[in-house]
Amino acid sequence: GDVAVLVPAAGAGVRLGPGAPKALRPLAGEPLLVHAVRRIAAAPSVHTIVVAAPAADVEAVRGMLAPVAPVTVVPGGAERQASVAAALAAVPGGPEIVLVHDAARALTPPELVESVAAAVRGGHDAVIPVLPVVDTVKEVDAGERVLGTVDRAALRAVQTPQGFRRSVLTAAHEAAGDPLTDDAGLVEKMGVPVVCVPGSELALKITRPFDLALAEHLLATGA
Ligand code: CTP
Ligand code: MG
Repeated sequence: GDVAVLVPAAGAGVRLGPGAPKALRPLAGEPLLVHAVRRIAAAPSVHTIVVAAPAADVEAVRGMLAPVAPVTVVPGGAERQASVAAALAAVPGGPEIVLVHDAARALTPPELVESVAAAVRGGHDAVIPVLPVVDTVKEVDAGERVLGTVDRAALRAVQTPQGFRRSVLTAAHEAAGDPLTDDAGLVEKMGVPVVCVPGSELALKITRPFDLALAEHLLATGA
């Protein structure tokens, strides 16, 4: 394997409602993070996995992942971007391709990890998995008055894993300013081209209770 995967897992999960940090909450009896790491580790290209865990749970996360795959666990930060930076700093020498993958996308198939890695290996500096946007999208003002309709055909919903040539991701994080919600955004700010590959519906981000219920159903029916 020539790929390191960084797994930001240090978020609270506010939108999921009260409870443990989201990555540690159960899905079909196992923490979301266990599902995510098991699928990452099943991708043949993956050499190294670094998890950014909630600071208070680093030892617990090491224990829960030890039977799943060899992983390095570091404390995450207050923002997703800081958690990714902490994980990136812990990647050993070797892997020249680095993927960043949300623990919250717990059902992401190994095939998507492989396809993103393959696109980077094929020469792209930055690769993101995307899906078409299905809803009509409106821009609104602060008073919820509609300003206009955005051309949906030109929009994409962006998932993870996002893949990068290692030097590009490192430079992007060194140059980073205000926190963004994804890593490709940092690379875009440097003027480096970002290319899209087809995403997967199974890579949905478990954000709200509805998403967790959907993931439970998908697992119960064979995902
Ligand atoms: N994440 C992280 N460190 C943070 C914030 C988020 O590692 N300080 C991770 C989350 O654990 C998650 C991924 O980034 O795997 C995507 O973030 P999101 O879905 O927003 O998760 P949370 O921040 O936990 O959820 P919420 O925003 O509802 O609190
Ligand atoms: Mg969040």
